[in-house]
Amino acid sequence: MIRTILTYPNLELKKKSAPVTVISDSVRELIRDMTETMYDAPGVGLAAPQIGVHQRVIAIDISPKDQPPELIVAINPIIVDAEGESYEEEGCLSVPKYAANVRRHSRVVVKALDPEGIERTWEADDLLAIAFQHEIDHLDGILFVDHLSVLKRELFQRKARKAAGDGK
Ligand code: NI
Repeated sequence: MIRTILTYPNLELKKKSAPVTVISDSVRELIRDMTETMYDAPGVGLAAPQIGVHQRVIAIDISPKDQPPELIVAINPIIVDAEGESYEEEGCLSVPKYAANVRRHSRVVVKALDPEGIERTWEADDLLAIAFQHEIDHLDGILFVDHLSVLKRELFQRKARKAAGDGK
């Protein structure tokens, strides 16, 4: 089922998500809904809190549009190693019509459970590394705009308020 994606400044996006303890039917349903919602949007990643579920589950697919899908679903993901620097433009389904460059690691090693409950390790570079960091941030209530400089964040907030129509 396609779910509604919450958008900034919804406070649900600021809450920390809890680890999944059992991969139950409801977790499997959550994964199906997240995947459907992500492809429908379309987006390259989605974290459970973006649809209002505060469990540590992320979905990522950075494959090019003309290629077969390469879905990654990671449950309780943790970054166990990180190196290098990148400064690439990011957007987010929860922050529509806004993009900005964000400082990230250019390479991360992520451990997580897959939907079958098997522990997996991903060694991710570049776009995939950025996607993992962006989606795992969501699980801790962090949006990419939280990484911007104070000045840039204020400009963003002003723009967002204007878009919301209170004109301040
Ligand atoms: Ni996002």
